[in-house]
Amino acid sequence: MLKGVVLLSQSSAAVVTATLPAVQAHGEAITSRFYQRMFKAHPELLNIFNKSHQATGEQPAALAASVVAYAEHLIGGGDDRSWELILSRIAHKHASLGITATQYTIVGRHLLAAVGEVLGEAVTAEVATAWDEVYWLLACELIAREARLYTQAGVGEDGSVWRHWQVVECIQETADVVSFRLVPADGGPPPTFTPGQYVSVAVDLDGGGQQIRQYSLSGQPGATYWQITVKRVRATGDAPAGVVSTLLHERVTAGDTLRLSPPFGEVNAVGDAGPLLLVSAGIGLTPAMSALHHLAATETDREVVLVHADRSAAAHARRHELPDLAEQLPNLSVQLWYEDPAEGASDRLKAEVNVGRVDPSRIPLPAGADIHLCGPVPFMYQVRAELLRRDVSKDRIGYDVFGPGMLRD
Ligand SMILES: Cc1cc2nc3c(=O)[nH]c(=O)nc-3n(C[C@H](O)[C@H](O)[C@H](O)COP(=O)(O)OP(=O)(O)OC[C@H]3O[C@@H](n4cnc5c(N)ncnc54)[C@H](O)[C@@H]3O)c2cc1C
Ligand code: HEM
Repeated sequence: MLKGVVLLSQSSAAVVTATLPAVQAHGEAITSRFYQRMFKAHPELLNIFNKSHQATGEQPAALAASVVAYAEHLIGGGDDRSWELILSRIAHKHASLGITATQYTIVGRHLLAAVGEVLGEAVTAEVATAWDEVYWLLACELIAREARLYTQAGVGEDGSVWRHWQVVECIQETADVVSFRLVPADGGPPPTFTPGQYVSVAVDLDGGGQQIRQYSLSGQPGATYWQITVKRVRATGDAPAGVVSTLLHERVTAGDTLRLSPPFGEVNAVGDAGPLLLVSAGIGLTPAMSALHHLAATETDREVVLVHADRSAAAHARRHELPDLAEQLPNLSVQLWYEDPAEGASDRLKAEVNVGRVDPSRIPLPAGADIHLCGPVPFMYQVRAELLRRDVSKDRIGYDVFGPGMLRD
């Protein structure tokens, strides 16, 4: 929603301005309490929320931050462009999870009750009305965007985003990474997508219930199958092994079916017609691989720079595809960074191979390039800071975060 288009009523704006500091200070306590209340009243919603994000607090933080930031925006802060990006990201994520308009009533009821519980007597009827207005302005904007996304994706009358897909091939890319190739179980053609888009995958858990995770489509749009490439999240210290990635690695084989959403995601990893810089690290290579295959099939003369960082050549998934892509894309140049140079660093790929972590100052930057980043958040901050230092406009830098939230300015 853009400033000047829909505004908070004057009386609510004054109340929100006065109470924003208190809500801000207790934002995470409010959303944590909200989730406890909501899941108690609606345990079925545990099936759509990510249990690990709840355990680590990442999702409560994302929701709290967005409601508070939206209130700030309504009373005059924040720029419209950042809001456009935030709303678009949330709507795409919600659509990939099949969130419905009815569920907004449930969330709104429990969120506002949690505000009352945490802030106590400070929440007068006037304060409750003002925050209710903030919530519903935001909710209506998201509901409208999600409705449009469902229509564009051809979601049927029943409103379900889930469709069964059959796994036709599992490719063990590295010790910790497997690719799954999938076709619609009903025999129809796979819908096309834009590189950078992802699907939600829903899996059933042993003890009952399901969990949903997103995976970027990592193959060529328009191919006869979809491909996702999944890194197994191993247990470390106190952190348990990843629920869904472990299940996909250990249990799913060719012939099995998975429930997938249509492709969603606001990020376009191929940019416009000009030069393209793709910078990835680890499993963040998936949107870049889709972009490269797309260009190899459609725009072979594009000037493309791929910069990829990984622990080692052996850990670098789908590295073996790069020589063929380089042949198909004569204007592709590749710069690789491996922390461990010992294994398998040389093959028929003509690439600049460096030892150590990425030195962002050495990333080649074609003039006027569109840029796509994907990898761990600290890596993306570091690369983006260097690109901004080199006078790249923020608008040209797209990125995917493989978790909740976005990069801060
Ligand atoms: C848009 C998007 C695209 C993505 N694309 C890809 C892709 O192409 N390929 C890919 O591999 N992944 C991708 N991801 C990431 C993917 O969705 C999953 O997040 C990832 O597979 C991990 O899921 P999991 O269920 O295995 O781990 P989870 O069970 O969700 O665990 C995640 C982390 O939380 C930790 N954790 C859980 N519980 C606790 C606890 N109680 N205390 C401390 N730590 C805890 C775990 O140890 C683990 O490190 C993408 C994510 C998004 C949002
Ligand atoms: C105004 C209301 C809402 C706001 C502001 C909001 C905000 C957010 C934000 C910021 C994210 C993280 C997006 C990302 O960066 O990936 C998110 C994810 C999510 N939202 Fe909402 N949301 C709202 C309503 C709802 C409703 C009604 C539901 C359904 C019950 C819902 C379910 C989810 C789920 C399941 C996720 C993903 C959780 C995860 O991966 O941990 N949200 N939402």
